[in-house]
Amino acid sequence: MIAVGSDHGGLELKQAICGLLQQRALEYADLGPFDESSVDYPDFGFKIATAVASGDFEAGILICGTGIGMSIAANKVDGIRAALVHDPFTARMAKEHNNANVLVLGGRVLSVDMGCELVEVWLDSTFESGRHQGRLDKVHQIEADRNK
Ligand code: RB5
Repeated sequence: MIAVGSDHGGLELKQAICGLLQQRALEYADLGPFDESSVDYPDFGFKIATAVASGDFEAGILICGTGIGMSIAANKVDGIRAALVHDPFTARMAKEHNNANVLVLGGRVLSVDMGCELVEVWLDSTFESGRHQGRLDKVHQIEADRNK
């Protein structure tokens, strides 16, 4: 199950991505927003990130205007590996090397077609584990040490 969210800057791309997930018969929940009113990206970034970190969702997709605010906000939540990607290479690496559990896109940076393509690349890629797992362990050790 994938949690999807945006702010007003990512609303159009979010709607297209929900359509794509539906086409692929993937279970998802659109956690908002549901109209074009101006909203604050940390509210939705935190909502989706905590929904993933709690284990209620396997992964998340977040979209704001640039993707920058959403990635900053989502990465504040322990257990979240949010990756802002711009092209098929970074979308693939986000999964293969970083095992990103939240994909972040810029709705004002990407065309709707490219945004959807990046979601597909990320969904269809596989974490390589091995040396990359060791690096992720170090990242999460930072969280564990901070919470001591
Ligand atoms: C909203 O205008 C814009 O600042 C937001 O969508 C995002 O790009 C922030 O990083």
